[in-house]
Amino acid sequence: MLVLVVGSGGREHAIVRKAAASSSVTEVHAAPGNAGIARQAQCHDVGATDIDALVALARRLEPSLVVVGPGAPLVAGAADALAEAGFTVFGPRREAAMLEGSKRFAKEVMNAAGVPTAEFAGFTEYQAAMAHLSTISFPTVIKADGLAAGKGVMVVEAMEEAEAAIRKCFVDRSFGDAGLSVLVEECLVGHECSVLALCDGDTILPLEPAQDYKRIFDGDRGPNTGGMGCYSPVPRVPPELVEEIIEQVHRPTIAELKARGIDFRGVLYAGLMLTGEGPKVLEFNVRFGDPEVQAIFPRLESDLVELMLAAARGELDGASLDWKRERSVSVIVASAGYPESSSKGDVIEGLDADGQLEGLEVFHAGTAEEDGRFVTAGGRVLAVTALDETFAGARRKAYAGVEKISFDGMQYRRDIAAEAKEAESRG
Ligand code: AMP
Ligand code: GLY
Repeated sequence: MLVLVVGSGGREHAIVRKAAASSSVTEVHAAPGNAGIARQAQCHDVGATDIDALVALARRLEPSLVVVGPGAPLVAGAADALAEAGFTVFGPRREAAMLEGSKRFAKEVMNAAGVPTAEFAGFTEYQAAMAHLSTISFPTVIKADGLAAGKGVMVVEAMEEAEAAIRKCFVDRSFGDAGLSVLVEECLVGHECSVLALCDGDTILPLEPAQDYKRIFDGDRGPNTGGMGCYSPVPRVPPELVEEIIEQVHRPTIAELKARGIDFRGVLYAGLMLTGEGPKVLEFNVRFGDPEVQAIFPRLESDLVELMLAAARGELDGASLDWKRERSVSVIVASAGYPESSSKGDVIEGLDADGQLEGLEVFHAGTAEEDGRFVTAGGRVLAVTALDETFAGARRKAYAGVEKISFDGMQYRRDIAAEAKEAESRG
């Protein structure tokens, strides 16, 4: 069968590689893809949010499955348009995608379903939001309601900073329309983790958990990014806790949507804080995590395409997942200026002709090809993933790989999975 993957990041490269490895897949196509994806898939110059062009491309290719990687096209209705044109799509319809597209809608669904999450107040007016600040304690969290490319969440320590954040939303309009509705949220304390589950509207099949690193610098300092590295599984999130999270978070959320006539088919990603009172939801995403899947998929033995097809068709019941025992560690290599900006066109040295490193999986995100060489083309450039029996070994291999790569302004965190290695050595 032919599979079409929509998107151009490291996540989409991870999906493409699993698709290329599936015994039932004969051709993989990507829209638009990147220089690394082009080694396993035929890339088409169609933007991920250009829905009309995606439908036209699908009509030409006649794929058996379309996988929509990023959240933005799902929120814009890509799954609806492709399904209406007769294609089988992995990724929820727009109404369900609003769990990611509107943080306020997500809160409303969680409250109705009794899902544990931070307390919040919502505002659509500047004055009311400002007045609310005098009634709360700090730190607090201020969030733009809509999609803001990962930049709409501001954890603030004091009043002045909070006022500036509210001004950023309503006055400066830094997040466009996404910031004209604002949530002021209780600040949760604890460890974060990501629990993703495949859903077909009824059946929920959890993936093994992953630990993302959101901040740019070692020791969780500096601004938030899309994610600077990841490891899986997560020692502090054993299978019993995953089960508890599925029962307290995913299942009631899917049921609440169903009661509203909304079928969630795709992957429901819960970003969670493990607090003293138990796990609480920080956010929902309606797509695979990036870089979560660059750490999760290399451990997955099962055929991802068969699973995504089953989810899209409402046939996940009875499916199961097989995992490699090995641990995985994935380190993101970013370009100069990230996350505030990014640097394009810097020549990347050290990769082989396929953009890989021996014994590792290299996922391309912001890369392009110029004169036969790989060059940077975005903030997050590559994810270098290693597997090993231990986190210590996987870390060593991943960093040995990263050190073979070089380009101007290259930056990466040195502490990815350090805590997992320590947890492991404590036994
Ligand atoms: P989100 O995009 O909602 O996941 O937020 C991005 C990051 O902001 C999260 O990964 C957390 O580190 C932080 N964050 C979001 N909401 C909260 C909260 N209620 N309490 C503490 N930190 C939060
Ligand atoms: N790693 C965070 C995300 O995919 O949203």
